Amino acid sequence: MKTHLIIGASTGIGKSLTARLLHQGNKVIGTYNSTPCQTDNPNLTYTHLNILEEDLNFDFIPDKLDGLVYCPGAIKLLPFKRLNSNEVNLDFQLQVGGAIKIIQKCLSALKKGNSPSIILFSTVAVQSGFNFHTQVAISKGAIEGLTKSLSAELAPTIRVNAIAPGLTYTPLSEKLLNTPEKIAVNTQKHPMKRIGQPEDSANMAAFLLSDNSSWITGQIIHVDGGMSTIKN
Ligand SMILES: NC(=O)c1ccc[n+]([C@@H]2O[C@H](COP(=O)([O-])OP(=O)(O)OC[C@H]3O[C@@H](n4cnc5c(N)ncnc54)[C@H](OP(=O)(O)O)[C@@H]3O)[C@@H](O)[C@H]2O)c1
Repeated sequence: MKTHLIIGASTGIGKSLTARLLHQGNKVIGTYNSTPCQTDNPNLTYTHLNILEEDLNFDFIPDKLDGLVYCPGAIKLLPFKRLNSNEVNLDFQLQVGGAIKIIQKCLSALKKGNSPSIILFSTVAVQSGFNFHTQVAISKGAIEGLTKSLSAELAPTIRVNAIAPGLTYTPLSEKLLNTPEKIAVNTQKHPMKRIGQPEDSANMAAFLLSDNSSWITGQIIHVDGGMSTIKN
């Protein structure tokens, strides 16, 4: 039985991953921010965490940890001329600053773990340029750099990988998929002719947390229905 900490376990990919890890017999410490969560599963504990707050209490981090997954993200699409540096900084704090903060707090626990693994999230919009994606690409581009550099620094003890999803049905992407027309257009854009489900990325995350991926580190793994590489 492994113990994993999922930052952002209340919705979307983190919620799906939590269910999968519990099903596999693991222990999960999950955090939520604005979506309150409760459980009577003895292998699951929830704690409230807003990573943007000052003076956070990290007592929920156990002495020994096998996996850390950082899910919080944002998809604010806007033309470059409307980019506002304060908002870009806030986005960066959520997506990158928060990841740095929690990784630093978990490092000693992860070093004691069994084949420890860290998972971060990028987006297909770093590998491929899309209109109006500069704000999200700035933060997620940094996540890709962080993944590669940190994987070098922590090898061979802790593996670090990132998943770069394509458009996936979660609360985060709700505005992009809230009409039949938007769903149809986005379905057609993907070579695999469907929009992602949270399970698509959660399955990859569960694999990257498992010993089956013990020779994989420093990778950005695209879970995007072929969007980043196939032109058809
Ligand atoms: N969905 C997509 O189409 C898509 C595409 C490309 C990349 N991604 C990336 O994949 C990752 C997971 O996305 P998702 O779609 O599963 O997102 P999601 O459904 O919005 O889930 C995000 C999770 O992070 C938590 N969270 C949000 N703000 C937080 C904060 N300030 N402090 C602590 N926790 C916070 C949320 O908690 P509460 O709900 O409790 O507030 C939730 O549990 C993100 O990094 C995202 O950028 C997603």
